[in-house]
Amino acid sequence: MNRADLIVGLQWGDEGKGKIVDHMAQKYDVVCRFAGGHNAGHTIVTDGNKYALHLIPSGVLNPKARNIVGNGVVLSPADFIEEMSQFDYLEGRLFVSDKAHLLLPYHALIDQALEKLKGDKAIGTTGKGIGPAYGDKIARVGHRIGELLHPEKLTAKIMHHFEENRAIFDAIEIKKPDEQTLLEELKGYKRHLEPFIVDTTQLVWRILQSGERMLLEGAQGTMLDIDHGTYPFVTSSTTVSAGACSGLGLNPKDIGKVTGIAKAYCTRVGNGPFPSEDFCEDGKLIREKGHEFGTTTGRPRRCGWFDAVAMRHAVRINGVDQVALMKLDVLDGFEEIKVCVAYEFEDKQIDYVPYDLEDVKPVYQSFPGWQTSKGVRSFDALPDTAKSYIEALEKMIGTKMGIISTSPDREDTIIR
Ligand code: GDP
Ligand code: IMO
Ligand code: MG
Repeated sequence: MNRADLIVGLQWGDEGKGKIVDHMAQKYDVVCRFAGGHNAGHTIVTDGNKYALHLIPSGVLNPKARNIVGNGVVLSPADFIEEMSQFDYLEGRLFVSDKAHLLLPYHALIDQALEKLKGDKAIGTTGKGIGPAYGDKIARVGHRIGELLHPEKLTAKIMHHFEENRAIFDAIEIKKPDEQTLLEELKGYKRHLEPFIVDTTQLVWRILQSGERMLLEGAQGTMLDIDHGTYPFVTSSTTVSAGACSGLGLNPKDIGKVTGIAKAYCTRVGNGPFPSEDFCEDGKLIREKGHEFGTTTGRPRRCGWFDAVAMRHAVRINGVDQVALMKLDVLDGFEEIKVCVAYEFEDKQIDYVPYDLEDVKPVYQSFPGWQTSKGVRSFDALPDTAKSYIEALEKMIGTKMGIISTSPDREDTIIR
């Protein structure tokens, strides 16, 4: 029986998972998403073309790989169908779990209304309806993709859901859908999606049994995990490697090599604690040089320095075997590069992630910068100070950086 290798974000998302999944997908037969929804935005640049994927696994650009959307995902049929329209070769290459949960337009309206009500306490969600869709799932009032195959029945259930929750929908001014319009909408989803809906649990078991190679693509990042992130400023799913098991129907013994993805610095989009955020010129420069604007919402990302404390936490939680260090080239030209090596918390220095990151202050160590790493494709060809920086990070987090990325392009990737 083969094992499935796993890619997982180690920071606050947008680490460059899409690039690495696409790069690695050349060696895999199947790529699977296991959590999140179209809050994710995974960018792939190849041969000068740029793709932004939200729900379709990043293996789609490899003409040989098949792609699976697992039961742990919340799926908006409208957005999924639109994303699918970029590709004309998906039948037989894309499979969607019948147990994935439906994310419908009213989930997005609830998300946006609740954020508005929170005012300055808002989470800064993507507004896509992720929290309300997972909320319905956990409250056991959600609807699953498999139900799309019976649109009449599903329409009746959704209408009943609106009736039952009328007081809430009224309070946030969300209108009950017109029954006939809803039915037509669901029939349209069924027409587009029926050929792709399968029992993906059986499918992933058969794939591993047959000896095919499978890669699991995480979304978001460890610090956005519902349990292990900076709650409540997190997303609503299990983003860490453990989520790959429940989100696909695998068991821990099915998991092989875990590659954690991290930028050579840190970013976060949305609200919540971010100890190594840089509010001065350096933060702005990182944002400009790294084009740090959200793939999904276009929002500017908050920028700062590599956080070795949060990274050690992430390496342990995910069982990381190797780290892919991304966007090294963005630090080109900085005279001084800082790394957060500890936190100051309640008048003490600590080297772990406490209950709440809100009140910690970063303790920095400085490293000399370098001029050019952009496009470099071998470790030896990197400037000496860049090599020293990478080696120092490896020591701090106790894990090898087996992949280093020096531009958005698939080919500009150092494998050590
Ligand atoms: P993901 O959500 O983890 O897949 O990451 P995103 O796609 O949201 O954000 C990463 C951004 O960085 C994308 O625009 C990538 O094209 C870009 N990128 C990835 N690797 C590198 C790199 O090594 N250097 C530079 N300059 N950009 C990169
Ligand atoms: P990828 O897969 C970065 C953030 C949002 C917000 C919080 C909750 O591209 O790395 P949600 O809409 O999920 O309820 O928002 O999570 N967030 C992400 N940040 N990358 C992502 O995905 C994200 N998905 C959600 O900005 O702070
Ligand atoms: Mg992203």
